[in-house]
Amino acid sequence: MRRTRAKRQAIVDKAMNVTTLAHDRWQERAPICEALDAYAGVTRFHMPGHRGGAGAEPALIARLGPLALERDVTGVPGMDDLHEPHGRIREAEELAAKAFGADRTFFSVGGTTGAIHAMVLGTLSDGETIIIPRNIHKSILGAVILSGAVPAFLKTNYDPYLGFFKGIDAQSLRESVERHPGAKAVLLVNPTYYGTSVDLAPVAEYLHQKGIILLVDEAHGPHFRFHPRLPAPALDSGADAVAQGAHKMLGALTQASYLHVKGNRIDPDRLKAMFQHLTTTSPSYLLLASLDAARRQMVLYGADILEYAINLADYLRCEVNKIPGLSSFGNDISGFLDPTKVTITVRELGITGYRAEKFLRERHGIQVEMSDLYNVLVIVSWGNTTADAEKLLRGLKSLTEAVGRNEVSKDLSTSRNAIPDLPPIPEMALSPRKAVQSSWETTRLEDSRGRISAEVVTCYPPGIPILYPGEVLTDDTIAYLDIMRRLAFGISGPKDTSLETIRVVKDL
Ligand SMILES: Cc1ncc(COP(=O)(O)O)c(C=O)c1O
Repeated sequence: MRRTRAKRQAIVDKAMNVTTLAHDRWQERAPICEALDAYAGVTRFHMPGHRGGAGAEPALIARLGPLALERDVTGVPGMDDLHEPHGRIREAEELAAKAFGADRTFFSVGGTTGAIHAMVLGTLSDGETIIIPRNIHKSILGAVILSGAVPAFLKTNYDPYLGFFKGIDAQSLRESVERHPGAKAVLLVNPTYYGTSVDLAPVAEYLHQKGIILLVDEAHGPHFRFHPRLPAPALDSGADAVAQGAHKMLGALTQASYLHVKGNRIDPDRLKAMFQHLTTTSPSYLLLASLDAARRQMVLYGADILEYAINLADYLRCEVNKIPGLSSFGNDISGFLDPTKVTITVRELGITGYRAEKFLRERHGIQVEMSDLYNVLVIVSWGNTTADAEKLLRGLKSLTEAVGRNEVSKDLSTSRNAIPDLPPIPEMALSPRKAVQSSWETTRLEDSRGRISAEVVTCYPPGIPILYPGEVLTDDTIAYLDIMRRLAFGISGPKDTSLETIRVVKDL
């Protein structure tokens, strides 16, 4: 563990010096925030129709406050143009590039989804191969469909006790690269939602030797660069482009994200062109200002506020592990864990994470980040207080007591634990784009052998797509889906979630 941390530090030190950055007076600027201040007081005869709040519905003013409405402007003079930044936005993007170690940073107002779409479309063309994990976020499938790229899937490390995928399987990556020597890019999700991560530096080195571009969905890791106890950031580890959810783990407003590019393997002009095609011409300056402010906050105070959040999360993890029936893993299960993610495993209580989440919300007014079959996930930020942590601990203790009194019934039945092994990854006969754009028809699941799926099918657990559009239905897949339609807690993707029928590509 100590060696891993030292390695992480070496990667970040090589790429930058956080202390130097914090003393860079330029980083004290927040150009978009400043532009909003400068615009106050201007008489407006321009969009939006609420005219800086003066014409807004009182119900909205009461909820957002007058300042938010006054600052809700878009590309007026002095505010710059997100499509062709040359002023305030350009400066803010340059500040962010310096802070995050990029050669170029783009601000996304379309969430990390928008950043991922631009990253993939800016890198791959129709018919080119992209190697991706099987359990990608739906934003990556969207990017693959839009680009026309053909995915080759990687296996991921499934932890049967915890019931989730811990990260990338290095062996599967090497095998996939050998099998697809012409692959243009690999897109990895690192860290996972649960904060587990792998060391990307050797992966980047290996892929670059093979002439393959490394793209990273780092939706959950924009804070990594700013504290030595966090995993090494993808960009410093050699990734060519990285999408980060500034609204997820930093203080930016919901939807605000970054796309960073580094090195010369990706053409930034092509990326910029794709961003333009995908981005509204009326971006919210509230979102853009929040990206500017989130970067400033990390550079100036990141080390201190992250230290606080990590310590609070460590305290929570330690106290959870003292409650009988509950557990919360640390670095023992992951090469490198983001400690601000606290996964609370409830399976020993005989209940699902879904039930625990509901209990905490309904009985204690606590909302966790998410739950799955065996766990609830809590994210601790510098915005949380010790009182928040104590409230959660009281809620968790009361959950275990309520289960003990049979007040909360056990919903983790043995049969539902008997989830079969995943079927082999099916052959892809059509690119996902061709499959979703083809005419489709509906057929009964048992009659679908040899047909090409027109939809994605994911069963929970294990939360990994069993079928992607373009893949051929086999006996193994049909048998698995037949079992899962009885056992799964949820099925997402298909039109018919009972899986009686499935949409397949119409025979030509
Ligand atoms: C790993 C991962 N990538 C991408 C996204 C998409 O992010 P956004 O909701 O900002 O579009 C998410 C969202 O949860 C995610 O978990």
